[in-house]
Amino acid sequence: MIKPPEHIAIIMDGNGRWAKKQGKKRFAGHIRGAETVSEIVEEVARKKINFLTLFAFSVENLSRPKKEVNLLMKLLVSSLKKEFKRLNENKIRLCAVGDLNTLPNSVKNELMFVIEKTKKNKQMILTLALNYGAKEEIIEAVKTISMKVKNSIISPEKVDESTIISHLYTRNLPPVDLLIRTSGEERISNFLLWHIAYAELYFTKTLWPDFKKEDLEEALSNYKKRERRFGKTSEQIK
Ligand code: FPP
Repeated sequence: MIKPPEHIAIIMDGNGRWAKKQGKKRFAGHIRGAETVSEIVEEVARKKINFLTLFAFSVENLSRPKKEVNLLMKLLVSSLKKEFKRLNENKIRLCAVGDLNTLPNSVKNELMFVIEKTKKNKQMILTLALNYGAKEEIIEAVKTISMKVKNSIISPEKVDESTIISHLYTRNLPPVDLLIRTSGEERISNFLLWHIAYAELYFTKTLWPDFKKEDLEEALSNYKKRERRFGKTSEQIK
């Protein structure tokens, strides 16, 4: 049997469909989705998993109707204010990855405040991917590395995996072991492309607002049954 995952990443999908099923506006799904975030974060930390990364807002989500984007930003600020105490009680450190500069000041300020105030917590690192796109992340890394090569800070023949990793927003994260996507969609949608190279993928039809501790348990027990070969043969890894 394989060891428990060190890093779980989640594409939280299906808030809009959940709301529609209930005859409510899309935003009701996001509000319920934020409650799920709170429950699942606590549960993952309780299970002593060291890293949890959540896809909270993609670069592509920015082109949703302005009203939905604004409401999502407001929800993020209110969730950060509400969850701050719980993060500290559970010794969870908050981090964020993505193009954070273009986020509204209200989000940036609250985010920086919680990141600063939780930075000594050691139980788990919770990373929110905000205004994040993995292709954009790789493009930015390539640009910086190219400049360093041009200025003779890095020699081209020395460029290797560690050079790339150290220039990503996600440089402090280990590889993803388990990637979960809710709502029945079976896509990666530009999330953590580098770090999921050997991740085990788990897709569930459950919509994110309905995702409970039991669903997490099911994902973990499914993960346990996988054989992670990393390109080797079954015999080699035994
Ligand atoms: C996907 O559902 C979800 C999002 C785009 C946003 C995720 C946001 C939250 C879970 C709430 C707040 C987050 C935090 C971190 C407190 P969708 O709108 O794409 O659903 P649909 O595919 O059914 O329309």
